[in-house]
Amino acid sequence: MNQFICFLIILGLLLVIGISFSQEFVPNYDETKVPTFKLPDPLQLENGKRVKKADVWWKKRRPEIFKLFEEQVYGKMPDKFEKITYKLLEMDSGALAGKAIRKQVTVYLVGREDGPKMDLLIYLPNQAHGPVPVFLALNFYGNHTIHADPNITMTDSWVQNNKEFGITQNQATDFSRGIRASRWPVAQILARGYGLATIYYGDIDPDFDDGFQNGVHPFFYKQGQTQPEPDEWGSIAAWAWGLSRAMDYLETDKSVDSKKVIVMGHSRLGKTSVWAGAADQRFAIVISNNSGCGGAALSRRQFGETVGRINRVFPHWFCDNFNRYNENEAALPIDQHQLLALIAPRPLYVASAEEDRWADPKGEFLAAKYASPVYELLGKKGIPADAEPKIHEPIMTTIGYHIRAGKHDVTRYDWERYMDFADLHLKNK
Ligand code: GCU
Repeated sequence: MNQFICFLIILGLLLVIGISFSQEFVPNYDETKVPTFKLPDPLQLENGKRVKKADVWWKKRRPEIFKLFEEQVYGKMPDKFEKITYKLLEMDSGALAGKAIRKQVTVYLVGREDGPKMDLLIYLPNQAHGPVPVFLALNFYGNHTIHADPNITMTDSWVQNNKEFGITQNQATDFSRGIRASRWPVAQILARGYGLATIYYGDIDPDFDDGFQNGVHPFFYKQGQTQPEPDEWGSIAAWAWGLSRAMDYLETDKSVDSKKVIVMGHSRLGKTSVWAGAADQRFAIVISNNSGCGGAALSRRQFGETVGRINRVFPHWFCDNFNRYNENEAALPIDQHQLLALIAPRPLYVASAEEDRWADPKGEFLAAKYASPVYELLGKKGIPADAEPKIHEPIMTTIGYHIRAGKHDVTRYDWERYMDFADLHLKNK
């Protein structure tokens, strides 16, 4: 009898495992299986009227679209908070063998030292005369991973374990110093006259689902509130909010040209840079590197990663309302081309990688293309109608796009194009 019960239990378990396996997410990588869909028109008001003038875009249509992204996708950021305060931790004007000025600044995100804080690492070209344009980008594993410079302060925030990087206790160790240097060509950035400012994203909100008890969220709960409302910010919006607080600091730094801050991000941090650029118009240029689902890629194509899949695996990234569209993309009141349109008329660059099918390179391109009518309404040039991007043939109007060979990553090729694009739009202006 006992044996029989055991047998039944094992059989039951095998069945459950079998079912969950059969339900395992299988991404679609077949262009012929992309569903037919109709995209919401960025230039049609909710009342059905067409937007024919720039002021109607600014006063009516843009706020409509922005509100939908806030309430249905990323969640609303706090509208009231104390101004940041900051402390210069360290500065060296002979850093990187004399090529750079290095500054490390702690930013107190709600204005007090016992509140949440993030460390900003800044490199500026040493030979600069006057304020310089700066690339601002979050990093995945701590500031000390972007360069072997032994003077970069190591984060004591929670870090994702990664055996290859020697991180096992969710704490960074010296082993990971410079480990991500290939993604950060600091010397080239400085040589071309740009500065670089970076922050470890986990300083703002650690990237795991803990019901929003850590990171910046709890500092904004109303009395009795224990987690964000369904239309309030998830982690992506919190990281984007952190980028705006970095901008608050950069506006105070005389060596930085704060009218020329380029916000850049890769992957989940690309989703973040685009939302930051949409929400905060102080960013002069916005760059999405392989940002994919919930970033630059059109959700309705359901190619590679989908809304349902991203919400199940990363339940903390978006607001809870976004779950309404799991396996139900057609019901979305927006699509990601409208997110890109929120950047207009500021220069926007979207980059894909050929082997990064999970992020849907074609969907990233099409979103940039379908954002173009808004750029044109505002007197700028978008993606030309007949453009068909080939590998390593970047398009650069007010919207930039390239697809490069290789996988999901940030490479020297990507950075070179971003600097070409920044030169085009910021130099001598
Ligand atoms: C996962 C996730 C992507 C994300 C990526 C990253 O692959 O599914 O949406 O862009 O992680 O941030 O590295």
